[in-house]
Amino acid sequence: MAPRPSPALTFDLAAKCPTTKARAATMHLPHGSVQLPMFMPVATQASLKGLTPKQLEETGCKLCLNNTYHLGLKPGQKTLDAVGGAHKLQSWPYNILTDSGGFQMVSLLKLAQVTEEGVRFLSPHDGSPMLLTPEHSISLQNSIGSDIMMQLDDVIATTSPDLARIKEAMYRSIRWLDRCIAAHQKPESQNLFCIIQGGLDLELRKECCKEMVARDTPGIAIGGLSGGEAKTEFCKVVDTCTSLFPTHKPRYVMGVGYPEDILVCVALGADMFDCVWPTRTARFGNAITDTGEHNLRHAKFADDFGPVDENCKCMICRLPSEGGLGITRAYIYHTAAKETVGAHLLSIHNVHYLLDMMRQVREAIIEGKYPGFLKAYYWRRYAGDK
Ligand code: GUN
Ligand code: ZN
Repeated sequence: MAPRPSPALTFDLAAKCPTTKARAATMHLPHGSVQLPMFMPVATQASLKGLTPKQLEETGCKLCLNNTYHLGLKPGQKTLDAVGGAHKLQSWPYNILTDSGGFQMVSLLKLAQVTEEGVRFLSPHDGSPMLLTPEHSISLQNSIGSDIMMQLDDVIATTSPDLARIKEAMYRSIRWLDRCIAAHQKPESQNLFCIIQGGLDLELRKECCKEMVARDTPGIAIGGLSGGEAKTEFCKVVDTCTSLFPTHKPRYVMGVGYPEDILVCVALGADMFDCVWPTRTARFGNAITDTGEHNLRHAKFADDFGPVDENCKCMICRLPSEGGLGITRAYIYHTAAKETVGAHLLSIHNVHYLLDMMRQVREAIIEGKYPGFLKAYYWRRYAGDK
């Protein structure tokens, strides 16, 4: 069946790698175009911790993530409706993707309980019982006005030994997708993506792909990964799913953000990634570089007046003569422990690093050089001089 054209998303394939499944594309969304493959930074509470929207824009980000669960609690649906959605709330002129909330609840709240109706939990504000249903998640995401909305799904850790529960969660996610599609009020301006579940069982994953692909959503996500499973299992799931997806739709692997995992997923045909890791690790004083992560709280950086990363062209690493801030490793070392500014500066560098890595990935795919790029990247990271 030919895919139905989506009014709020078009996908233009630019190039395909001849030897891997990597692709380069442009995705047109209501708040501008984005280049795929892409990394999406996570701005949980309508802000990337410590960064202004302007600073996020300067990293080159054109699509960031918000969470329905957090925005639904604060500022809440009434305020979101009054202000006219999350773009206005955070003065962000580019695209927003919202996760549906269930995953955050189950991973953040030990007391969350999943039933066929939805996810039951106790309000972290006043302890009162609450229920997030597929309909409520979609209603909140319609109020948020995100360019890409995610279905509510039933997520089980891949490491769970309970195959019956994993199977139940997969079929429930399909039923919840149908409820999300029926509840969606704004398909002309907001894109609803499905989320493939099924744990590490490839037959369950295939069945889920068959059912969800037939629902013809504008984009498709692979969920339930990055929960501590073996890399070979992780790769088999991504490879199996992407082989069953239509070519002309974006594919999003949720919660994946380590450079080496992203690069492998791109080779397996995935286009979109998100993770809190670059900003979280920045708060621990870690700078992401081509040679791996460096903890700038280490005493050896106390008198190191070089840039955070000599190969980086972000605002932090560029010299004042190049229009940058010329921040040194020593400055981060001396401020990181007590001051939040060091963490904010490293967040800017780390987000810029991942966005720039994706620009290089895309260029390599377009030039037909992706396998060579992969090899060189891994070499620098694991075998080169540290
Ligand atoms: N974030 C990371 N993994 C998942 C997932 O499986 N489902 C949802 N909704 N969000 C995620
Ligand atoms: Zn930098």
